[in-house]
Amino acid sequence: MNTFGREFRVTTFGESHGRAVGAVIDGVPAGLELTEEDIRRELNRRMFCHIPALNPRCEPEDFEILSGVKEQRTQGTPIAIVIWNRRADSSYYNELWMKPRPGHADLAYYLKYGKFYDHRGGGRASGRATAAIVAAGAVAKKVLALLGIEIAGHIVELGGVEIGAGYTFEDVKRCWDKPLPVVDGAALERMLERVRQAAEEGDSIGGGVEVWAAGVPPGLGEPHFGKIKGDIAAAAFSIPGVVAMEWGAGRALARMRGSEANDPIVVRDGRPALATNKAGGVLGGITVGEPIYFRVWFKPTPSVRKPQQTVDLSRMEPAVIQFRGRYDVTIVPKALVALEAITAITLADHVLRAGLIRRDRPLRPAESR
Ligand SMILES: Cc1cc2nc3c(=O)[nH]c(=O)nc-3n(C[C@H](O)[C@H](O)[C@H](O)COP(=O)(O)O)c2cc1C
Repeated sequence: MNTFGREFRVTTFGESHGRAVGAVIDGVPAGLELTEEDIRRELNRRMFCHIPALNPRCEPEDFEILSGVKEQRTQGTPIAIVIWNRRADSSYYNELWMKPRPGHADLAYYLKYGKFYDHRGGGRASGRATAAIVAAGAVAKKVLALLGIEIAGHIVELGGVEIGAGYTFEDVKRCWDKPLPVVDGAALERMLERVRQAAEEGDSIGGGVEVWAAGVPPGLGEPHFGKIKGDIAAAAFSIPGVVAMEWGAGRALARMRGSEANDPIVVRDGRPALATNKAGGVLGGITVGEPIYFRVWFKPTPSVRKPQQTVDLSRMEPAVIQFRGRYDVTIVPKALVALEAITAITLADHVLRAGLIRRDRPLRPAESR
């Protein structure tokens, strides 16, 4: 399945070392302002070229909006975005054919698709494929902005270093000015050190991120199988490398008594509101008008320079591989941008499903500004 969403539908395509990756986005109403700059800004956020260990490929994104936009306004027709793979280097991958990289998807793809899958650069399972999600997420973010919904994430753990407590959504947005989006300056220095160490040792590290959606109206999400938590969890786990997730105060809630865990309900600006929001903005799978927040953890990048044990599938004999191609020492920063994007796509779908924005008629002048 390469299509996601019910009303705001995104289909992605492409393999890491094929000609291109891309997305077709259906369900965007006519009249939304959408420029190449909107897409470029999000694609640039996943580059991190200033830290080469995080993006050895560092490909300046060369993309085109093929359809659905006329004079910087959406037409209400499918928007196709293609991102060319100009600098793919497949030379090293010949020696990896039929020798699956431990931790990567090679083995699973071989078992499912036989010899037909493209193993170069991880093929369809590559992190490169998430560039298409980021492009589609840029469109979803524009749709959400019509309702004042904003999405931003940050790194909460990298290589075993965790941030200290205490920050606001404004801090999260501002920390994107730093070398890595980390609110805690001291933790950031130690994280960068772990990245350097892992790169020197030819190894990789994992970590965790937190994504916030602020300005989310109440009433998004449906029982039983259209719950916001369920849909965002499914979306999050579609990003390669995700290993765990925690909603709101998450595991800490599991250690509390109910009296401590429950968010008191208060009146704020004449409306019911949560005094504390440990729930992460969702009760019963439905948003309550408080910010959504959740954490997601990623495993270390599977490709490492150290020798790893595998099997030569053509002979069914043990083999050792030592990866010599390009790899991201950690996938966490880039994957965070993909996670923001897939969150935006999921929420845009729910906004359309709830009828807050209609896909079947142009935006009204007040909406389309
Ligand atoms: C943005 C991003 C970049 C990634 N870069 C690499 C990489 O350079 N090398 C690698 O081996 N895996 C990389 N991965 C991870 C693999 O794609 C992933 O581990 C693999 O598809 C197996 O999927 P799984 O970990 O979900 O089981 C990346 C993932 C993401 C999201």
